[in-house]
Formats: sequence, C-alpha cells, structure tokens
Amino acid sequence: MKNIAVFSSGGGSNFKSIHRHIQAGEIPGLIIILISNNSDSDSIKYAKEYNIPTLIINKIRYPNPVAREELLTEALIKKNVDLICLAGYMKLIPQSIVHKYQNRILNIHPALLPQFGGKGFYGIKVHEAVIQSGAEVSGVTVHFVDEDYDHGKIIAQKKIKVRPEDTAITLAEQVLKVEHDLYPKVVKAFC
Ligand code: GRF
Repeated sequence: MKNIAVFSSGGGSNFKSIHRHIQAGEIPGLIIILISNNSDSDSIKYAKEYNIPTLIINKIRYPNPVAREELLTEALIKKNVDLICLAGYMKLIPQSIVHKYQNRILNIHPALLPQFGGKGFYGIKVHEAVIQSGAEVSGVTVHFVDEDYDHGKIIAQKKIKVRPEDTAITLAEQVLKVEHDLYPKVVKAFC
C-alpha cells in the first residue's frame, strides 16, 4: 500500500476520481492527506466527507514562506508519503520538496505537453490557446514534476480530437473526462 498525498486547489474532480478508484479496490494505495491552499474548495469538503485528513496551507494562515515550506515538509514526512499527486494545485511546490520526492510527484495537465504548457498555461487558458491555435488534436498528459512548470518526464498521454464546434469550455469538458480515466491508471501503475 502506497501512502498518497493529493494536492488540490479547486473542484478536485481528479482527486475524487483517484479516491473512487482506490475505494473500488483498483489502486493499492491510500490517500493519507489532502493538501490545499483553499479552505473553501470542493476538494476540502470532499475530503472531510470521506474522513481524509486535510491540511490547508496558504499565505493567510502562514504568512512566512519558510514556515509554509517547513509545515508542508513535516506533514509529508510524518505521513510517510510515498507519492504526491498534484490535481489542479495552483501553487508552486517548493524546490526542496521537488528534490526530496524526485520521480515521486505526479501532475496532470489538460493538453499534450510540451505544447500548451508552462507558466501561464493553466485552467481554461490552456483550452483557449488550443482552440485559438486551430489545433485538431488536444489531450491529456501525466508527467513527473521537476523544477520547471509542466516540464518533467512524460509518463502517459492520451489524445482527443478537437471538434470544429468545440469552444474552450466544451473542450475542457471532454479533456476532463479523459483525465479522470488516465490519472488513476498512472497512479495504479506507480503503486
Ligand atoms: C484539470 O484540468 C487538470 O488537468 C489541471 O487542473 C484541472 C483541475 O481540475 N491541472 P480538478 O480540480 O481536478 O477538477
């Protein structure tokens, strides 16, 4: 059983999908902690509902960045975390944690990296850029996290056809469905 820490800032649909696959007995892992910067997020609500321990770390609660980093590191060590899954986490992971957990931090990106990735490519902006580019194919990427945004080694990708009638919103919906399938598969493979 691997101990998994999920980091999620918002809706948390990928977090929920991983959790559902664990509950169905498909992944030999346990979500040992849900970490968020957003106390109002649906991911925090969901974690509480399922008795998953939560940790909220943000500038309001901990104005000192060193204290934030220490708290995060301590929590991961205390919980014996084997794998970190970033699932819509909008904050940068401190370098010390990236180094300590090399090849043990996964991220999901809603496009085919290395295209449409990097600083500024997040959320709906990714899909707007894809539509604007006229690309006929988009997709999902799961990759390891390194020092740069959306840059680490790619583990799995799945393509999706961009339909002529797609808007950024409809494309995001299509992509998200594929994310919910691909991310748990990679987490399972890792475990
Ligand atoms: C997903 O599109 C994911 O690829 C990106 O942020 C979004 C998060 O969605 N990193 P959710 O919070 O998992 O619903």
